[in-house]
Amino acid sequence: MNNSEIESLFVERFGESEAPVRVFFAPGRVNLIGDHTDYVGGLVFPCAIHYGTTVVIRPTTKNTFKFASTNFDLVAELESDQVHHKYGDHWINYPLGVLQQFINAGDDIGGFECLYSGNVPNGAGLSSSASISVVTAFALNEIFSCARNLPSLIKIAQAAENDFVGVQCGVMDQYAVTMGQRDHAMMLDCETLQCEQIPLELGDYSIVLFNTNQRRELSESKYNERVVETRSALEVLQQSYPVSQLAQVSPQQLHDSANLFGPDLQTVYRRARHVVTEHQRVKDAVVALRDRNLQLFGQLMFDSHDSLRDDYDVSSNPLNALVAIACETEGVLGARLTGAGFGGCTVNLVHKEHIDNLSVAVAKDYTNQTGLTADCHRITPAQGVREVTA
Ligand code: GLA
Repeated sequence: MNNSEIESLFVERFGESEAPVRVFFAPGRVNLIGDHTDYVGGLVFPCAIHYGTTVVIRPTTKNTFKFASTNFDLVAELESDQVHHKYGDHWINYPLGVLQQFINAGDDIGGFECLYSGNVPNGAGLSSSASISVVTAFALNEIFSCARNLPSLIKIAQAAENDFVGVQCGVMDQYAVTMGQRDHAMMLDCETLQCEQIPLELGDYSIVLFNTNQRRELSESKYNERVVETRSALEVLQQSYPVSQLAQVSPQQLHDSANLFGPDLQTVYRRARHVVTEHQRVKDAVVALRDRNLQLFGQLMFDSHDSLRDDYDVSSNPLNALVAIACETEGVLGARLTGAGFGGCTVNLVHKEHIDNLSVAVAKDYTNQTGLTADCHRITPAQGVREVTA
């Protein structure tokens, strides 16, 4: 659906009025390497993608908030005293969480009506939720002239997910969908928020995603469980090192402290091993990219997948099947699960001439092995959140 079609649907839904209608867009993101390192103060390497969420929005003179979507039937109309409670298990919780953050911070937010339309595949690990939260924060900031800067909007969008939706996510997704630049990936230090935009020059190679189309179950509770496990690991390691974040511990230091992790802490040890090695892999991958050593970059992707599967335990049979098929296909330099895991997508570094072979191999072997069908998406790094014209 293009922007003028969404705008027409908005008018159909909410009618005409004097107030100006504005249109905003935030992309989704794919993380190339560095997963489950953001909430432990580590490095990540994502880029924004061309799929995303568009919102058409208009202020009103009433003190009510109206939310609708072209993707789902439900329309919600909330009074100002209703915005502090979760709205069932619904997508509206993302914009609602953002709205609540603005209100709690004392920003002067009046009534509005808005229509969302998204094309980020749901539950695919491509940050459809951050895309909704960030586009909402950006739009409210603009239409109510709150004069917040982008870092502040990133914080609001992350807090909405942490405090309102209840997922203890890190800052990677909100940052990536806000700050994305065309043809660049970002090396972001999630502790300091220092970010380096690095041209993604892949020559004859492309970034290709395969969506497992696996139903994700318990992913939120398992995600929060990992956050707790990394905190336990940090407490153990603080007996030896003056660190405030798990990612500050080097792989060697963790190895040297292995004896601090008794039999009941072996799982926690493995979680920590994933974090500290993954943090290092991001550094190595960025050096490899700068050196045009895509072979090494790809190998680090495979290593990352192994670590997410074996030490962090966030992979799944469908994800492992996709990575194994990629690994056996000519012209594939690397493949790994991307995002939180428990289903979702793999990200693959593939020679342009072999993308079709890989798609054919996936179509045949993946369905044989899992009974599922995987969709293929080619990705180029896109620009972050912005106002668009219809
Ligand atoms: C989800 C979270 C992010 C990050 C990734 C895993 O996408 O929202 O903060 O933790 O999982 O890297």
